This record gives sequence, C-alpha cells and structure tokens, in this order.
Amino acid sequence: MREIVVRAPATIANFGPGFDIFALALEKPYDEFRISLSQNNSVVINIEAGKWEVPTEVKRNTAGLAAINLLQRLGKPQGVEINIKKGIKTCSGLGSSGASASATAYGLNQMLSLNLNYNEIIEIASSAERITGGQPHADNAAACLLGGFILVRCFKPMDVTKFEVPDIPIVISIIKKKLTTTRGLIKKRYTLKELKNQISCCSALIHAIESGNLKDIGRFVNKDCLSEPARAKSIPGYENVKRRVLYAGAYGCNISGGGSSIFAICEKEKREEIATIFEKELIETEKEILITKSSNIGITQI
Ligand code: HSE
Repeated sequence: MREIVVRAPATIANFGPGFDIFALALEKPYDEFRISLSQNNSVVINIEAGKWEVPTEVKRNTAGLAAINLLQRLGKPQGVEINIKKGIKTCSGLGSSGASASATAYGLNQMLSLNLNYNEIIEIASSAERITGGQPHADNAAACLLGGFILVRCFKPMDVTKFEVPDIPIVISIIKKKLTTTRGLIKKRYTLKELKNQISCCSALIHAIESGNLKDIGRFVNKDCLSEPARAKSIPGYENVKRRVLYAGAYGCNISGGGSSIFAICEKEKREEIATIFEKELIETEKEILITKSSNIGITQI
C-alpha cells in the first residue's frame, strides 16, 4: 500500500475530572489525512483545506513528529507525505494535535505493516504531543484512535482501555485559547479533601459511563479540582455561563482539554436551548457553537 486516507475525530480530553487520563471521542468535527509513501527520504506536510493556521514545518506539527518517531522504528530511510484537511479548530482543546499525531502513526503502521498494537501507536502519538504542552499526554491521541471513552491506566508502559459509550448529546462553545498551553497554570499540590473528591468523581464517572446513565455522566463531568479551577480563570465569563447552562437543565459543563472550549452535556431536546445560552452569555468571546455527540468510532480508513 502506498497511500491511505483516514478520518480522525475531535476529542474532549480530561472529560471533567480525568486530567490526562480520560477522553471522549466526538462524532464531529473531524480531520482527514491522506498519507503517502514517497521516493525521497523526507517528511512533508501540506494543508489541503481548513481555515486555521497549522504549521507545515515537520518538527512543529505533531503529524510530522509522529512520522519521525515511527520511522525511527523502521530502521531504514522512508519518505512520507501527509496532506491534512483540517476540520478541528486548532488550539481550542478539541484534540487537533492529538488527531494529527494518531492519524499519522495509524496510517504509517498500516502502510508499512509494522504490526504495532494500539498502545504502541498511542505511545508514539503521545510523545509527538510534547510540542503542544511540553509534556507528552495520551488522552486525546487515545480517544481519537479508539473512539468511545478512554481511560489511560498507565503511562509507562502505555496501557489504555476503551469503554463503549451511549449517545451523549454535547453542545460545545469552541473558543481558541490565547496561550499555546495552559498546563503550567495547574497547581502542583492538593489537599487530602481535594484528592478524595477527585478520586470519587473519577470513579463515579467511570461507573456512570459503564451504566450508560446520562444524568450521572453529566453530574460527575461537572466536577474537577485539578484543571478546571486553573483554566477557568483564563476564560472570560466561564463561571457565569456554566451556572446558566446548569440552571437551564444541562447535566454537566466543563472545559474541554486545555481549553478554552466549553462543553455541556444535556438531553437531546435541550441542545438548542443550551447552544443559545452559550451564544448569548459569551457575547464578547469569539466562538463557534457546535451541537455534536459522543462516538464509539475512532480513526477509520475512508
Ligand atoms: N490532558 C491534556 C491537558 C489535554 O489537560 O493539558 C490537552 O488537550
């Protein structure tokens, strides 16, 4: 095989309390990647479509870094061309860089018949994610690859497990973050009370996913002591809009990944109302409102 075309979904990393260990795949938006093997020995990135600025310099793009990481395992020179159609807004906490890294690692593994298992693909993709936040993180890359809800059970060696999810209606206010990364804002020390809350929310959320209880999924997505308090400060109007959507009947609301996008979980019939609240309450923020849902489908060949 000399060429492969794949679709890679957007993801909500952390999904409330699961900092770096939980993520959910979405039905839309998604990116498409046409990856081909070439005669020369270089890695080339082209942006075919998409209205957002994406670096084409190989070492500044997670697709390029994932390709370099993977080709090192091949042990012989190989040229690769990656053509990207961007559907996922960059720098908005919806897993755009994770999708690039995962799709490239997946595509090359298929074409070069490397027989890497999914944990190895996630490992390669997650180390490419280092350029986005200084630290490798696997949550976006894993949910993008596998679909559904993922739990990173261990980072070294990489060990990810997937849970099938029910239809979870999701409304997102897609907001670009001002900083390249917001990981540095998260505090390093926590009280015992905070840790107990966090452990119970993470456990309760996994239980809610397993039992398919939408109300409980929202309830436990809603709470987080680690990422949310730090990142909320850099999203104008966050506390207010969260209060409003919950008052209107959404089951949960939180920050997607590193932000600044905000997502809410609600019944299907409530989606338009929640979207209108995002629209009206975040009036001074440049945003795009999207109605979507969870998806059990990860990267697929098209
Ligand atoms: N878990 C990562 C973080 C996801 O919170 O920084 C980044 O999208």
